[in-house]
Amino acid sequence: MGSRLFINVWAIGRDKDVWTEPEKFMPERFLGPTIDFRGMDFELLPFGAGRRICPGITLAIRMVHVMLASLLNQFRWSLPVEMEHDGIDMEDQFGITLAKVVPLCIIAAPI
Ligand code: HEM
Repeated sequence: MGSRLFINVWAIGRDKDVWTEPEKFMPERFLGPTIDFRGMDFELLPFGAGRRICPGITLAIRMVHVMLASLLNQFRWSLPVEMEHDGIDMEDQFGITLAKVVPLCIIAAPI
């Protein structure tokens, strides 16, 4: 009673026993298996779980899709030449929210 529990979602997301090559950007890893992101499968908890799960989840899911689709629909995206050559530095710095150490710089050309 009275205990406070902190769940390290960051560590779960980087656990080699749970994810293959956890540090690798590999969105296709979510295509095959039916992992639930609404708090039922504990290896993926972007919105938390249980009674305190994010109440904005339905709005958030729709808005993320609309924003991403709008950006892809309206612009042609490319990387600066040096980043195209060296790859994107994905190192993050710890905080209340994670931020990239090297800010992402990409070129958007209107279609
Ligand atoms: C992609 C977008 C979003 C993500 C990834 C996200 C994620 C989260 C997470 C991880 C929590 C903590 C859950 C927990 O403690 O277990 C949370 C809480 C919360 N979220 Fe979101 N959220 C998003 C968008 C939104 C939106 C659009 C709203 C409101 C319109 C919202 C309102 C809230 C509120 C009020 C809480 C606190 C719930 C509580 O403590 O009882 N969120 N969210």
